[in-house]
Amino acid sequence: MKSEIRDNLFDQAMEWVMSAGANIRNKINDPLEIDTKSNANDLVTTMDKETEYYFATCIRNKYPEHFLLGEEGYGDNITTMKGTVWIIDPIDGTMNFVHQKRNFAISVGIYHEGVGEIGFIYDVMADVLYHAKRNEGAYKNNVKLPHLKEDLNLEESIIGLNHFWLCTNRLVDEKIMQDLVRTVRGTRTYGSAALEFAHVAEGIMDGYLTMRLAPWDIAAGLILVKEVGGITSNIDGDQINILEAGSVVTCNTSIQSKLLDYLQKGRK
Ligand code: IPD
Ligand code: CA
Ligand code: CA
Ligand code: CA
Repeated sequence: MKSEIRDNLFDQAMEWVMSAGANIRNKINDPLEIDTKSNANDLVTTMDKETEYYFATCIRNKYPEHFLLGEEGYGDNITTMKGTVWIIDPIDGTMNFVHQKRNFAISVGIYHEGVGEIGFIYDVMADVLYHAKRNEGAYKNNVKLPHLKEDLNLEESIIGLNHFWLCTNRLVDEKIMQDLVRTVRGTRTYGSAALEFAHVAEGIMDGYLTMRLAPWDIAAGLILVKEVGGITSNIDGDQINILEAGSVVTCNTSIQSKLLDYLQKGRK
């Protein structure tokens, strides 16, 4: 993508992200209509839908040749990454949005011919915007994030994972996961995949493991983490296919092999 086109696209996308965020903040105490999707804990609200609809309308008006892949159904049915594709999670961390009114994010990744060009993760209530442009680094509120620490040991790492990893699960033996939890310095669970990616990019968390994420959960985060020298794969170490849901391990590159060794040791 030509840099002038990308710069214009970046400015426009940022304006929409900020305005979508301001709208959510303005209505944060309004009564919510809450529905469930695949199960009783899989929540969706009118605000998730309103926000995605806003992006869909803006993108279709201004860039009718672009495609949109979004969680809430206002996007296109996409089977390839040809052309320019916006991958949007209007609210990542809906459970936090509903229960806490904070700790959720808008996630927007813009890909061109399959390559991640621009990523935004906006922590709406904290008013913290993470962004990245391919080969130009990642930023937090316009301050450039440093390259991730080199020669980090797993023993001094903080890893994000949710507690289902410690229950019997279909992917990795929970005893091995318990060993991993005892080995690392600490663990965290934030409930928004996009924010967890942003925290890995910021270096305040050194890795994040998750059993199943969708394209919109990771599209922006992949770009951010790559820009600071981090690395992302599935739990078997394979490259992520952005169009498929699956397991994700994103981390500081220096702990990747040890982390994947644990997962492989316990792999079912
Ligand atoms: C969810 C959040 C959560 C992760 C789930 C996602 P949503 O996204 O990122 O942290 O554990 O797998 O589905 O539904 O709140 O956009
Ligand atoms: Ca959801
Ligand atoms: Ca999500
Ligand atoms: Ca969502």
